[in-house]
Amino acid sequence: MPGRDNPGGSQLSRRHLLLGGAVGLTAAGAAAAAVASRPEDHDAPTPPEALFGDDRVPFHGTHQAGVATPPPAHVAFVALDLLAQTDATALARLMRILTDDAVRLTQGRGALADTEPELATSPARLTVTFGFGPGFVERAGAAASPSWLRPLPAFGIDRLEDRWSGGDLLLQVCADDPLTVAHAVRMLLKDSRTFTSLRWSQRGFRRAHGTEPATATVRNLFGQVDGTVNPAPGTDDFERLVWSHGQVPWLEGGTSLVLRRIAMDLDRWDLVDRAGRESAVGRRLDTGAPLTGVAEHDEPDFDAKTPAGFPVIADYSHLRRARSDDPGQKILRRAYNYDDEPGTDDGVSRSGLLFAAYQADVDAQFVPIQRRLDELDLLNEWTTPIGSAVFAIPPGCQADGFVGDTLLA
Ligand code: HEM
Repeated sequence: MPGRDNPGGSQLSRRHLLLGGAVGLTAAGAAAAAVASRPEDHDAPTPPEALFGDDRVPFHGTHQAGVATPPPAHVAFVALDLLAQTDATALARLMRILTDDAVRLTQGRGALADTEPELATSPARLTVTFGFGPGFVERAGAAASPSWLRPLPAFGIDRLEDRWSGGDLLLQVCADDPLTVAHAVRMLLKDSRTFTSLRWSQRGFRRAHGTEPATATVRNLFGQVDGTVNPAPGTDDFERLVWSHGQVPWLEGGTSLVLRRIAMDLDRWDLVDRAGRESAVGRRLDTGAPLTGVAEHDEPDFDAKTPAGFPVIADYSHLRRARSDDPGQKILRRAYNYDDEPGTDDGVSRSGLLFAAYQADVDAQFVPIQRRLDELDLLNEWTTPIGSAVFAIPPGCQADGFVGDTLLA
């Protein structure tokens, strides 16, 4: 574009602007450009680019990966039902095969008889986590089953659909690359086919890798900072609240997953002003700070009152209702957004949260929180649970074992 200092708008300056003008803006940039163009340097080896596709999460260990692991950008939750002929012996065979697939894929190698092994070479923090529904544990002929391994009690807010609920075997596949997730899911499904049928599959996402600092709390599609108050991996709290201890022997070191598909009505949320949105949760939208604080991790003050004498953090707010004074009544939240294609008839969004909660005991931790939210939570105006499933997440395995060996071996 012709400018005041360059009335003619010469080709040179236009090209300079288009092709690399920004580099010319700083002295350091100009020097870098000059060095880069020195002919004798053209053969100098380029330093290798650090690619996050190479990042690997160890598979073997006391716990399965994918629970305490910082959540990668993409997830596929896949629920399978066992075929009638899949008995306990077949279950052990299935879990051996799937464990072998998961070991290879998470470490950047193709699965056995992988038809596209090149797709396995960038694991991008791939984790594969297996979960057992009530039907799986029963079929395994377990001597004992955790008392909470059954569908959740019915809640008044629920509008559950079969197509997002239940399941015998869960595959939770997470990675920072959606192609990696797609390939891993396909390999696992191929190897499951003679034992199971597909019940449902749900895909979710968070911010793409590298968009924000890894330490930032993610936002959901309402724009809220979501995941602030969560037990931190490696702490005593996490150990006590998330991993199973002293329940049934085969689950020692495992946990439970409650997966709720919760529709979020973005179009009705649009009608609410900022103050109303913040009051519904009890936190600010910009920083995620409680309405009584300034920074995200400030402790909320539930006794603080407005000049008119009302609580600053309303009694009906999600924050007030979700919090308990009981230190045992906490869960690990690891939610992902979903955003299905809008309805072709109305163009209205079909979005929400794949609300994944892990806890040592569903009945003692998840259920009382959900019950309080069911009784009163202003967020219920815009959110509706449409899917629900409960799984036992068995412990991890060692290199000579397989996931589920404590139950099936
Ligand atoms: C679409 C549905 C939901 C949305 C949009 C949502 C959003 C939020 C937001 C923005 C916060 C505050 C920041 C934070 O600590 O993460 C929060 C906190 C929390 N939510 Fe939810 N939530 C939803 C469903 C649920 C469900 C189903 C449960 C459990 C049954 C739950 C349990 C919690 C807990 C335990 C906290 C932390 C409370 C505390 O500060 O102690 N949420 N949620």
